[in-house]
Amino acid sequence: MRCGEQFTGIDPVVPAVAPRDHIADSRHKTTGVAVTRRYTESAMSDRVHDEATLHSATQVLTRGYDPALSLGSARPAVFRSSTYVFPSPEAAERAFAVASGRSRRADNENIDLIYARLNHPNAEILEDQLVPLEAGAKAAAVFNSGMAAIMTAMTTFAAPGDRVVYTVPLYGGTQHLIHEFLEPFGIKGTAVHSGATEELDDAIRTVKPRIVLIETPANPTIRMTDIRKAVATAKNLTDPAYVFIDNTFLGPAFQHPLLFGADLCLYSATKYLSGFSDLLAGAALAADPQLIVRMKGRRVIFGNILPPDECWLLDSRLPLVTLRMNRSSKSAQRIAETLQHHPKVSKVYYPTLFDDPEQIRIRDAQCDFPGGLFSLELKGGKNAAFDFLRNVKIARNAVSLGGVETLTCHPKTTTHSPLSAQEMETAGVTDGLVRVSVGVEDWRDLLEDFQRALDRV
Ligand SMILES: Cc1ncc(COP(=O)(O)O)c(C=O)c1O
Repeated sequence: MRCGEQFTGIDPVVPAVAPRDHIADSRHKTTGVAVTRRYTESAMSDRVHDEATLHSATQVLTRGYDPALSLGSARPAVFRSSTYVFPSPEAAERAFAVASGRSRRADNENIDLIYARLNHPNAEILEDQLVPLEAGAKAAAVFNSGMAAIMTAMTTFAAPGDRVVYTVPLYGGTQHLIHEFLEPFGIKGTAVHSGATEELDDAIRTVKPRIVLIETPANPTIRMTDIRKAVATAKNLTDPAYVFIDNTFLGPAFQHPLLFGADLCLYSATKYLSGFSDLLAGAALAADPQLIVRMKGRRVIFGNILPPDECWLLDSRLPLVTLRMNRSSKSAQRIAETLQHHPKVSKVYYPTLFDDPEQIRIRDAQCDFPGGLFSLELKGGKNAAFDFLRNVKIARNAVSLGGVETLTCHPKTTTHSPLSAQEMETAGVTDGLVRVSVGVEDWRDLLEDFQRALDRV
């Protein structure tokens, strides 16, 4: 079933993920920082001979943590220690030699942990469990916010003098990062309209950037950008550019950029991955583990690794992320498609309601399902939008998205308020626009809530 089709009530299934190395092989050879085998060795090696044949929904529960190595505890302990005790001075010397890159870890060698800013067991467990969720990923790194993941990615792979091509509208924090930090730092940005396939192609060929940063779909009008085409052009340059996708809105369940050749998937894990609006986190995933090794090297310097408590909380949310996203997507589709007929609504922005043939083409080429976000353009401008926000009873008026609770906001006066009038117009941010992130409540209650709120506008 593709994005534009009506749901049948059967939950979408995340495509089978490409086979991966056993974690003990893939992780320890590549992290370049201290690691632990004692707490994160995969229990699967004893019980299932071929872990690579398992589907992602199974792997997320079987990789990365072996209860036998933690007193039988079904859930990992939280290792809050900032520093780790070495069994001998020789072990400390060896750990530092490997962590600094002066020496490589030998196969099956157990390297001791050093200090939690470099690495800690809960980050390792979480990273191992994130990998199967992102189709095509072989390695992951976790950060203390989505912005930390994006900032680390940009400053690991671009240096002063390099150029970055990025799509707009872009999450406001990322746009600030480019304008307020990367540009003064000497990394110049070139903005391209989301969904403008030829414009992006031309910009990549002309600017010859080090990084192409794409947020798709874009917020709040859900415009999509062609990932495959951007990758083809970026990789065709004499000095190929990296392609990074902010996959926060449709990943990891419905959009799989690494399978289209993107180098990094970046996440505000604060959103769907976490799902309960109660923690901040970020993640980067790659098919090439070396990219993650480089980011982890920077993470040590920046000190922006996700702390143990947050890692523990986030890894408990991962087994249900696909179920939550499926339910939100199914509900959002039903609600969006019904609300398009409401007399107070002039337009609904939602993937199944696209009318631009290029947007439909991109949607069908790269998205499995439409997702849990839509925006409503209300007749009556700002007053109507504010009335609607005041009138909803189940949905709450808050920024952010991807939680189990339905959230609504007015982008023009909140998330997108720093944009210039010209940027607002380009981004489609109008007075009457309201963004909705659909949670997991019963869709019939939500629909009634929205209809009643609209009737009173
Ligand atoms: C698409 C997107 N990327 C990145 C971020 C930044 O994430 P965080 O707030 O976790 O730093 C956000 C936050 O809203 C976002 O919506």
